[in-house]
Amino acid sequence: MRKKTIRDIAGISGQTVFLTVDFNISLKDGKVTNDTRIVEAIPTIKYLLSKKVKIVLASHLGRPKGVDPKFSLKPVAERVALLTGKKVNLIEKYWEKEAVDKVRSLPSDQLVLLDNIRFHEGEKKNDPTFAKHLASMADIFVNDAFGSSHRTHASIVGITEYLKGYAGLLMEKEINMISDALEKPKRPFLVIIGGAKTPEKISVIERILDIADTVALGGAIANTFLAAWGFGMGQSIVDYEMVEMARVVFWKATRQHSALMLPLDVVISDNQRQAKPKTVDYNQVPPNVAIFDIGQKTQNHLKDMIKNAGTIIWNGPMGLYEDPRFAKGTDSLLESISGSKAITIVGGGDTLTSIKTKSCLKKITHISTGGSAMLEFMKIGTLPGIEVLENA
Ligand code: 3PG
Repeated sequence: MRKKTIRDIAGISGQTVFLTVDFNISLKDGKVTNDTRIVEAIPTIKYLLSKKVKIVLASHLGRPKGVDPKFSLKPVAERVALLTGKKVNLIEKYWEKEAVDKVRSLPSDQLVLLDNIRFHEGEKKNDPTFAKHLASMADIFVNDAFGSSHRTHASIVGITEYLKGYAGLLMEKEINMISDALEKPKRPFLVIIGGAKTPEKISVIERILDIADTVALGGAIANTFLAAWGFGMGQSIVDYEMVEMARVVFWKATRQHSALMLPLDVVISDNQRQAKPKTVDYNQVPPNVAIFDIGQKTQNHLKDMIKNAGTIIWNGPMGLYEDPRFAKGTDSLLESISGSKAITIVGGGDTLTSIKTKSCLKKITHISTGGSAMLEFMKIGTLPGIEVLENA
């Protein structure tokens, strides 16, 4: 289902737009360390500014419990000002009645940014009173927060009870790129899933086996599948509650003759990562060690599959990439994908963090700003925050 975008809004000039974005970015010592999600939302902001629209930006940052200065969007406001060349007015107590007058009184060539939208409990509860309060700040609602649109929150879903909602340019790009890859993939279609969060990812794997030619697993999720196959995983992260479900997925793959690829070899160390890393085959993991990366044989096998693939979707790192000794699997995967001629889509918060400094990013067809949202979209083909937008 195609959605109306900001380009479809008649008479937009002079209006005020409530623009929800996903500025849930990485910070270190109060400084922005990866601004991909902000950069990706800039085309929508610039388009609206060119139409003489006043913009009220809203986003969450992290998972604060109430108001917490550590989670303030202040550093984000500074980065948005830098990227747009506009003054950004950060409204701290945006839940107060006076905030509406403040927003309404600011000139339209300045930006308004509400501080962390999760500082107010009404956001996650999708509270109608809070949603109505947010809506009273603007005339139109635009959702450019693809990365958060799997959440039924007030600034994503509830607000559309009071304002008509449209997709921003980033949202449009995300929907089109991922839907096209899933609906008419150039074959062979290879999906690579890594990282942890097994319960969330396992149902995506089950669904994606219907359309992908091969699903390759790495990272902690692969451990759970190897454990389901009966191999000892030592001290590695394994989601034992998901082992039964992993077996169901194996059966499905066998029934459908689709390939589910698990690591051939893995890099191990003791749990504290004191011991020198060593590579062993998947079925030779001793009881006193843990798996931290995929090994060379697996990297080579993935490289061959990537060479032949027509479409590749990748979400989640292959190992503990924060430790350079265990980053080779993820790095080599990125290198192979960025050198491929296939349509390539890469997403996932951890994946973005792991590859932020690499120049090969430019060679990827689409970098998704969605982590869990991208996976959920792959599973059901839509998201709660997309469903409530106006249909085209
Ligand atoms: C993300 O980083 O995946 C999104 O911003 C959603 O964050 P959340 O999982 O805290 O809702």
